[in-house]
Amino acid sequence: MKSNFFYLFLLFFSIVTFLAFFSSVQGKSGQVTEGQELFKAHCAKCHGQEGEGFLRLYPPLQNSRFLKTDVARLPCIMRNGLKGEIKVGDVTFNQIMPGNERLTAEHMKQLIIFMQTAWKHPRTQLSVQDWLTNCSST
Ligand code: HEC
Repeated sequence: MKSNFFYLFLLFFSIVTFLAFFSSVQGKSGQVTEGQELFKAHCAKCHGQEGEGFLRLYPPLQNSRFLKTDVARLPCIMRNGLKGEIKVGDVTFNQIMPGNERLTAEHMKQLIIFMQTAWKHPRTQLSVQDWLTNCSST
C-alpha cells in the first residue's frame, strides 16, 4: 500500500514536471514574432542575425537612415534590391542587394515593425501598400 502511494506520487510529479517543461518551451516560441522569423529567413543571412552587417560586404541595418527618417523607401529596397555606392556610418559600400519578390506588403510591415522595435527606433505609421505602388511607378 505504502509503495503504491509512492508510485502514484512519482507519476504525479513527473506529469507536473513534463507539463512545466512543455509550457516553457511553448512560451518561448510563442514570443518569437512573425517579423523576427521573416527577418531570419530573408535578411539575416546577409545583414546578420542582429542586423549588425558584415565587413564591407553587407551594411549594418540597426542605425540605417531607412529606419529612422526614410522608412517609406524601405519596401522598395526590399522588393527591388539596391546597388551602387552607399555610405552607412563611416563605411562606403558598393555591392548588390537582390530584390525579393516573395515578400508581401504584410510581410514587409511585420519586418519593419520588428526592426524598429528590436533596434529601438520610434514606431511610425506604415502605409506599405501605397509605398510599394509609388516605387514601382518610378
Ligand atoms: C543577398 C544578400 C542580402 C539580402 C538577403 C538582403 N540584403 Fe539588404 N543589402 C545587401 C547589400 C549587399 C546591400 C548594400 C547595397 C549597395 O552597396 O548599394 C544592402 C543594403 C540594404 C539597405 C540599405 C542600407 C543603408 O543604410 O543604406 C537596407 C535598408 C537593406 N539592405 C535592407 C534589407 C532587408 C530589410 C532585407 C530583408 C528583407 C535585406 N536587406 C536582405 C545585401 C542583402
